Amino acid sequence: MESTNNNRGFSSNLGAILAATGGAIGLGNIWRFPYTVGVNGGGAFIIMYIIFVFLLGVPILMSEIVIGRRSQQNVMGAFKVLAPKHKAWLGVGVLSIVAALVIYAFYSVVAGWTLNYIVLSGSGQLSGKSPAEISQMFADFTHGSFWPLIYQFIFLGLTASIIILGVQKGIEKYTKILMPILLVLMIMMCIRSLTLDGARQGIDFLFKPDFSKINGNSVLDALGQALFSLSIGMGAVCTYGSYIRKQDNLFTTSLWIAGADTFIAILAGVAIFPAVFAFGLSPAAGPSLVYEVLPNVFNSMPGGMAFAVGFFMLLSIAALTSTISLLEVLVLWAVEELHWSRRKSAIILSLAVFTIGVFCTLSFGPLSHVTIFGLTIFDLCDKLTATYMMPIDALLFTLFIGWYLPKVDVYDELSNSGQLKARYFKVYYFIVRYIAPLALLNILIAGIIS
Ligand code: PFF
Repeated sequence: MESTNNNRGFSSNLGAILAATGGAIGLGNIWRFPYTVGVNGGGAFIIMYIIFVFLLGVPILMSEIVIGRRSQQNVMGAFKVLAPKHKAWLGVGVLSIVAALVIYAFYSVVAGWTLNYIVLSGSGQLSGKSPAEISQMFADFTHGSFWPLIYQFIFLGLTASIIILGVQKGIEKYTKILMPILLVLMIMMCIRSLTLDGARQGIDFLFKPDFSKINGNSVLDALGQALFSLSIGMGAVCTYGSYIRKQDNLFTTSLWIAGADTFIAILAGVAIFPAVFAFGLSPAAGPSLVYEVLPNVFNSMPGGMAFAVGFFMLLSIAALTSTISLLEVLVLWAVEELHWSRRKSAIILSLAVFTIGVFCTLSFGPLSHVTIFGLTIFDLCDKLTATYMMPIDALLFTLFIGWYLPKVDVYDELSNSGQLKARYFKVYYFIVRYIAPLALLNILIAGIIS
């Protein structure tokens, strides 16, 4: 009998899929994907994105999971166990930890915004406002410092509390309840958006590809978004991989995660773009898109206020399941490598994240004039991780699986020691050995010279 490692990790395959999908689905899908599509001109970008997700994303996802599940360790310990003689591989662990820290710092800013929008919509402050007034409210809020910092702090605290409860009683239990609710709400939002007058233009924008809008930058953005959305290249997948039971099928689990993640991102596009065009707003608004556009949709529907509260609660929940996976990368590392308790790790690391996060929050307000390489602190953290750290980390993960770990070990892990057929193995291995590293390298170089 295979060991089920139940005590260490998730209690079932469904729990694992939902928790990992919960980690993948987040602000990246509902907030970042639509605005990145908007800035890059729509349909053609989406096609490129989907190709990246399945051709590169799934094999890289599988590789990261293999490293986690085979080693049964945190992202740093994994390389100690799998490459005991070559300490240089520990660098991948270090890079993952730093990336998770930086991502969590800027991610928690936007996650905090969702809490503010629950309060704004619940107290009726968004009701009956014109699109211009709604945009102004967003600007007023984010340009401040007190409330954005408070909400960010609350969000970090919420995440830490669930992490302290542990893997099964915290992460698995909560994501299992929250993810299905998110799906139902997203579908309702899409229906409303699609039935608005003028919705057609938004659908054309999303689904009628115009390849002339693709340039070097959009290719970079598409890959960066695919990595970000699947949570690849910062150890989150590796960490959750170490919780997946030995008898679960890693290929189908990865396909589920990627499929569900992409589906939700496209649903978010369908919920948002018809409304953007119907209200005469710009699809290229950038990070403020969801916060400025959706309140107009809610205002146009009966019972819109309840919907708005529901939606922003779910946006927070989607963000929460992702911040949980980010903090877990750091906490499992501290628990296993520094031998701290879960509670101590969660508290100290959340405070460390907040220290960087404060600068990210203030970069929308009092520190908006501070730019590094022409970017605000928030944008710099986003760019640094999505364009450099995650592709480098993902590249190293694939090189480790494709060129370092013995092929028989990789096969052994993917086939559950020969119990599964793993017929896809040849194709997978070819992608991980050649295509994924070359594509990632290409993207990296392009990112550096652009
Ligand atoms: N994949 C998450 C999202 O799309 O919102 C973001 C994320 C979570 C990135 C966890 C990285 C991570 F480790």
